[in-house]
Amino acid sequence: MNKPMKMMTFDDVVRSRRSVRGFLPKEVPMETMREIFELAQLAPSNCNIQPWITHVVSGDSLKELGNKLVDAAKAGREPDPDWPADKKFPGVYRERQIDAAVRLYGHMGVERHDAVGRENAYLRNQMFFDAPHAVFIFMLGMFDAREAVDLGIYAQNLMLSMTSRGVDSCAQGALGLYASIVREHLGLPDDLQILFGISFGYEDPDVAANRTRTERATVDEHIVFHR
Ligand SMILES: Cc1cc2nc3c(=O)[nH]c(=O)nc-3n(C[C@H](O)[C@H](O)[C@H](O)COP(=O)(O)O)c2cc1C
Repeated sequence: MNKPMKMMTFDDVVRSRRSVRGFLPKEVPMETMREIFELAQLAPSNCNIQPWITHVVSGDSLKELGNKLVDAAKAGREPDPDWPADKKFPGVYRERQIDAAVRLYGHMGVERHDAVGRENAYLRNQMFFDAPHAVFIFMLGMFDAREAVDLGIYAQNLMLSMTSRGVDSCAQGALGLYASIVREHLGLPDDLQILFGISFGYEDPDVAANRTRTERATVDEHIVFHR
């Protein structure tokens, strides 16, 4: 069921966006999709180069891609992300990573040492959490961190535009782990790099993972005001 389309303030939109990891089999109408992508397109970027290259996958193509990704993961195929994805976070970053995982797995009923449960939870990523759509955001291989920032800003515009129209989403670095499979499936050249994908659609409120709520450190922990 669609969420009621009341006008949301900017604060409402920012506060109500969260990662959704279980979707209903209901597509987002093309008209809504166009509005969302048109709004996202207004993102600022270095020198206005707009380096994002966006591919939206739905229907049979999404199902086939999901099957390929799940098969690769189940077969233990070595991931080939364009950007390293195996960084170990130190200190407080590790603490926050664990806190987010504990909250998510707690709702999913997966214990810390339950390797099978964790594997199954990870595989849900490769199935787009049953979403009817996924968007992959690419940039040219010649680009670097500066342009990656532009893609991040674009992605946040995109997710907030979705929230404002009752569409739920989950950004997923996991969708860039098998970059070559995604490129091959979409018929794209090797010099288009994937940073991440975003699954989107309408939340299935019966999926336990969707009860997860994360927290943020306080402003005082992050910000130093100088004058
Ligand atoms: C670039 C990026 C990559 C992410 N990758 C994944 C992922 O692969 N799988 C996943 O379940 N969540 C992923 N997330 C979602 C984060 O876990 C989530 O944003 C964070 O825990 C904060 O929760 P919230 O989005 O509900 O506020 C990603 C988020 C971002 C921004």
